[in-house]
Amino acid sequence: MIQPLSSHDRVFVLTGAGVSAESGLPTFRGADGLWRGYRVQDVATPEAFRANPEMIWQFYSERRKRHATVMANAAHFALAKLEQALGERFFLCTQNVDSLHEQAGSQRLVHMHGRLMQTRCSRESCRTKPFADERLYMQRAEIPTCPQCGAMMRPHVCWFGEVPYSMDRIFEQLRICSVLLTVGTSGVVEPAASFVRMARMNRAKAIYVGPEEPANRAFFDAVVLGKAGEVLPGMVKELVG
Ligand code: APR
Repeated sequence: MIQPLSSHDRVFVLTGAGVSAESGLPTFRGADGLWRGYRVQDVATPEAFRANPEMIWQFYSERRKRHATVMANAAHFALAKLEQALGERFFLCTQNVDSLHEQAGSQRLVHMHGRLMQTRCSRESCRTKPFADERLYMQRAEIPTCPQCGAMMRPHVCWFGEVPYSMDRIFEQLRICSVLLTVGTSGVVEPAASFVRMARMNRAKAIYVGPEEPANRAFFDAVVLGKAGEVLPGMVKELVG
């Protein structure tokens, strides 16, 4: 039984690939997960990009193509409704690079692992901003170069070995939240896997929603087993009426 929120509660929502599973986007570590068909080190590291930018762009272009065919599901809409009810007492941090939270109407959100539909310069020191980009790059000659520094452009996603985005804002929100709602993430990838411990240190109540227990299950006060699209609409009603 989930307690209704009080007018003092601040909710931090962390989502992972599971929240988009019912939209038809594969998770990473499930039976037909994205990492089953690829070696992470071949497609999700800066070294892999340097070694074979064409192959990396083909991988992300395929994901862009798939992304264009999917729609937000009941879980994304339920979280947007929770945001509407709470206003600035709501914060959403997603590990997902898809745009389905935005599609459902979420506004107070950060993409800690970047955005599939954005492109940026591959040179770390270059100050060119990431830009919206739906194009597909299947051949090396098509890959654009930076107008400022001439380096090759890359997908605006956080690869293994890189620091996730917006961490200052995330840590601040973890410090002030009183409820942490985590949805559809296996709890194995850092730093997101440690958010529950950080929030608990500040006495937040931690709830997990997903069809199976996450690896960091021990840190949650409550685990609600089920698909996000089936559990969240009812849970949001219980939380905010
Ligand atoms: N509703 C909720 N959760 C679901 C659903 C669903 N319908 N279907 C699957 N899940 C859960 C699985 O039980 C699993 O715990 O979603 C989780 C998906 O886990 P992962 O595939 O490990 O994805 P995630 O935790 O988001 O991965 C974290 O790893 O490779 C990196 O950068 C990538 O952001 C990603 C990060």
